[in-house]
Amino acid sequence: MNELDTDLVVVILAAGQGTRMRSRLPKVLHPLAGRPLVGHVLDTARVLEPGRVLVVVRHERDQVAGAVEGAGEEVIVVDQDEIPGTGRAVQVALETIPDYSGDVLVLSGDVPLLESDTLAALISAHRESGAAATVLSAVVDDATGYGRVIRDEDGTVARIVEQKDASDEEAAVTEINAGVYVFRAEPLRSHLGLVGEANAQGERYLTDVVRLLRDSRLSVAAATAPDATAALGVNDRVQLAEAARVLNARVVRRWQLEGVTIMDPATTWIDVTVTLARDVTILPGSHLRRATIVAEGATIGPDTTLTDCEVGEDATLVRTEATLAVVGARASVGPFAHLRPGTVLGEGVSVGAFVETKNAQIGEGTKVPHFIYLGDAEVGVGSNIGAGTITANYDGVHKHRTIVGDYAKTGAHNVFVAPVRIGDGAYTGAGTVVRKDVPPGALAVTAASQRNVEGWVVSNRPGTAAAEAAEKAAHGTQEEDD
Ligand code: UD1
Ligand code: CA
Repeated sequence: MNELDTDLVVVILAAGQGTRMRSRLPKVLHPLAGRPLVGHVLDTARVLEPGRVLVVVRHERDQVAGAVEGAGEEVIVVDQDEIPGTGRAVQVALETIPDYSGDVLVLSGDVPLLESDTLAALISAHRESGAAATVLSAVVDDATGYGRVIRDEDGTVARIVEQKDASDEEAAVTEINAGVYVFRAEPLRSHLGLVGEANAQGERYLTDVVRLLRDSRLSVAAATAPDATAALGVNDRVQLAEAARVLNARVVRRWQLEGVTIMDPATTWIDVTVTLARDVTILPGSHLRRATIVAEGATIGPDTTLTDCEVGEDATLVRTEATLAVVGARASVGPFAHLRPGTVLGEGVSVGAFVETKNAQIGEGTKVPHFIYLGDAEVGVGSNIGAGTITANYDGVHKHRTIVGDYAKTGAHNVFVAPVRIGDGAYTGAGTVVRKDVPPGALAVTAASQRNVEGWVVSNRPGTAAAEAAEKAAHGTQEEDD
């Protein structure tokens, strides 16, 4: 795409380190509801169908570039040089489109909650007024850390003053700069060249362009965001948590209006990437992550975390942790189950308490009820795995598969030493260590027959409560015999 075929270019500022996060991870890559901060900004920008989205990077440039590259052919990564400041960031972006003369929407990679409707309204207002620049502002209770919008008596914007450069009077202003602006490209380009570094941070501020445009007798307007919380900028982890709360409340509300019962929005966390059907119920303390999809009528929770899972109709998962698992319709899982990647539960499967599965495909109606580990296993339909059974799937070097057929019934406390195959309709006795294949319909037993050593306790543990009890029992029996 060499020619710009629209009159909108978006610049996303994502080059800063985010010092106040005190993190190894670049600030704009901190996750929020399943996406990095900059991913939310990029998604919102792309709804506007701009001809180009220029993402300015510098700190950990490869990581940040990796998070945005491939989102669309209009998305281009631009490298900021060593000159710091939001003004310099926009300047290097514009250098990649020297002939462009349409509008430039500047977004901050750390302002993730703005919605495309708000941006579209900002662009319309800008185009209608014919201003050289239009700033998105918000009136907030606590303006700490933000640039203040200083207006003239006629309501036009005179300048933006950063907190660190503000007088007491300016600092008292509660209308803040959201870090989002529309500019006409030509005056922006020419005035960025005039921005200096004479400020508290020694940086080239984009916000200085406002004052410089005014000095050139060009007009600057401001549009106030209808919802001030959406203008939240994430500079530290307190603001990150606040942004997560606001976004989650928005996501929860959207699903509630779509027909999902969410009992406790405050303790239910749903990534923006999750899909829910009608009549899903989500109980407190649950977290639905990434590409999770839940079908109609399913009940999730309480205290359940699903990551990249697919849950079928009317299934129930109680106090369960599951990742990359598929749960069939009407299956019942938990409490305290751990479904690991590659788990596929057929329709109506029941997985009970303290069960762990990994790369395990379990057929329709099969029961895996109590204290079980099934790893690298395939179980047919209608089978029952005994309590306390585990697959010994790992020989220390390789993983091996266990295959159990249809309608098999394995006894309690078995070990299936893989690779091993238990046939259709086979049974195994309690405590069996299955090392050899069990043919269909056979009963496998490995336990040696039980031997009782009479009187062992009285001889070997004299004086103990057990010995006393044994003696009493023996005596009682004799008396009855007499
Ligand atoms: C900025 C604004 C402030 C506004 C606030 C809104 C300036 C000078 N100040 O302040 O008026 O109220 O946002 O949230 O613009 N960045 C670059 N290159 C740089 C420096 C920063 O790309 O050289 C990026 C950052 O990665 C970040 C964004 O620009 O995504 C904003 O930078 P930040 O340092 O967070 O600015 P604020 O102090 O929040
Ligand atoms: Ca910021």
